[in-house]
Amino acid sequence: MKEIYCKFKSTRDDVAALIEQNTEISTDHMTPEIKLRLITPNCHLWHSNGDDSPFLEPFWAFYWPGGQALTRYILDNGERFNGKTIVDIGSGCGATAIACKLVGARHVIANDIDSVAAESIKLNSELNDVTLFITTQNLIGQSSAKCDIILLGDMFYDEQFANIISDWLKKSMTKSSTVFIGDPGRHSFQNHPMREQLKKLACYELPKSCKLQNNGLISSSVWEMSI
Ligand SMILES: C[S@@+](CC[C@H](N)C(=O)[O-])C[C@H]1O[C@@H](n2cnc3c(N)ncnc32)[C@H](O)[C@@H]1O
Repeated sequence: MKEIYCKFKSTRDDVAALIEQNTEISTDHMTPEIKLRLITPNCHLWHSNGDDSPFLEPFWAFYWPGGQALTRYILDNGERFNGKTIVDIGSGCGATAIACKLVGARHVIANDIDSVAAESIKLNSELNDVTLFITTQNLIGQSSAKCDIILLGDMFYDEQFANIISDWLKKSMTKSSTVFIGDPGRHSFQNHPMREQLKKLACYELPKSCKLQNNGLISSSVWEMSI
């Protein structure tokens, strides 16, 4: 069954219109090459307590620090992603998947279980003139379709979920696949045993807007896992 992340019964057109009404196009982030519809301080919902929000949990309306670093890395190291088949798990606003297309990836799957996120990814891909394959299927835990690269931007925000993801990676990774992770130093990631298998590739200072949104975080890093 499809997960419902809007507070009322809605069609895809309604959802797209609501996203457009409640967000603004922003480039105030670590990858200004990519335009994104986000909830920013200029938007009504930024200042609301959520009661008047049509969305249940609009994670897609924010560009998370882990995703920002991972996307920056992809844009700056395009040769590693060019020509590849890539799946972006927990795509949110879709920035990381969009970056892959911009650097010439062959096929990019943007995956998020939130159907509103899927609509936001579609709108953002159109804003940036790229075509993505978007799916709301829960791929975590399933034997994954063959792909060269798995991307995880800010997906280690919870200890239990971090364990589920790492178990899935252990089972589904093949010798030819690589996992790239963006994380700003969240507790569930820092202390995870999986860290021993990871190589740090880059560390970026967060832009002012992102620091303000994520109290206490100052930087975000990119890690590579391979077997
Ligand atoms: C913290 S946000 C990160 C979004 C994006 N990667 C970024 O860095 O900006 C986590 C996202 O993962 C999605 N998500 C949670 N569980 C998921 C699952 N099992 N499969 C796919 N997406 C999932 C949420 O809907 C949300 O959009």
